[in-house]
Amino acid sequence: MRKTKTKVSHNLSLSTIIQGFWRLDKWNMPASELARFMNECIERGITTFDTAEIYAGSQCETLMGEAFRADPSIRSRIELVTKTGIFKQPTADGSFGYYDTSYDRIIQSCRESLKRLNSAVIDLYLIHRSDPCLDVWATSRALLDLKAQGLVREVGVSNFEPFKLIALNQAAAGALVTNQIEWSPVCFEHFDSGMMDLLGVEKIHPMIWSPLAGGRLFTADDPACVKARNKITEIAGRHHVEPAVIVYAWILSHPAGAMPIVGSSKPERLDYAVQALDVKLERYEWYEIYAASGQQKIK
Ligand SMILES: NC(=O)c1ccc[n+]([C@@H]2O[C@H](COP(=O)([O-])OP(=O)(O)OC[C@H]3O[C@@H](n4cnc5c(N)ncnc54)[C@H](OP(=O)(O)O)[C@@H]3O)[C@@H](O)[C@H]2O)c1
Repeated sequence: MRKTKTKVSHNLSLSTIIQGFWRLDKWNMPASELARFMNECIERGITTFDTAEIYAGSQCETLMGEAFRADPSIRSRIELVTKTGIFKQPTADGSFGYYDTSYDRIIQSCRESLKRLNSAVIDLYLIHRSDPCLDVWATSRALLDLKAQGLVREVGVSNFEPFKLIALNQAAAGALVTNQIEWSPVCFEHFDSGMMDLLGVEKIHPMIWSPLAGGRLFTADDPACVKARNKITEIAGRHHVEPAVIVYAWILSHPAGAMPIVGSSKPERLDYAVQALDVKLERYEWYEIYAASGQQKIK
């Protein structure tokens, strides 16, 4: 069995299977029901919860804070991850998205997130996206100041490219403990960029978003999804498990020590991720999934 906890620093361990709350505003759960769902996650060993300031215009953080208030025992039993750096400017025809990773904005955002989340501390605070105007010295100083003030326990990034991660991590004296990145059987950006190898050498464990390609892996008709789905279903038949279990097992068995983030609110779908901790793929099966969509070649 793969370990149920992953140590990301001497100070912080995350559950190897993480629950994501990006889609929370669509779940229509009052605070008491959301608190019940959070307890169901904890009972399964899924104790790390992922959100972001930008999700549903900060509504997801607010809803989570209300659930922590409804059941005050939850907050001390979980590790809370949130992110900053993406903002929306209202415009005449909607809104325009932009990044702000400046010192003052990060400090202000962190304080606002803590308030919405009804929490005294954020366990892991991430810069959400790679900002073309990133000032590595200002951003790293903000992250380190938040740590020094005890408002966050650890810091990291999300969606960073290799050189951006090296640069910010150097300015932050090696303080970054994760890069939260997209990876699924139909998304290989971070294999192609060399990020997976960089994370290996830096001994940084990635958190993986949209491991099921946001559900498209099981629903979409495009050729990449259909080919990947067919192969995953075939392998699932060999192991007598649901196809989703195989996807999580595939991610978990990579040497990077990745932590998949589950996006579903359905307990049985959380179970698929937990079951994957016990599934051992044959080495050739890992490559079968890697090549299945047709995007990656085994030469
Ligand atoms: N850092 C970033 O930039 C970033 C970006 C996106 C997401 N994230 C994080 O990653 C988390 C997970 O992302 P995600 O929600 O896209 O993950 P995902 O697990 O790939 O997708 C979840 C979606 O797939 C559906 N689904 C699950 N199993 C399915 C199945 N067997 N058949 C059909 N549909 C299925 C779910 O529907 P049901 O709810 O009906 O089960 C849900 O709509 C988010 O909550 C967020 O915390 C981070």
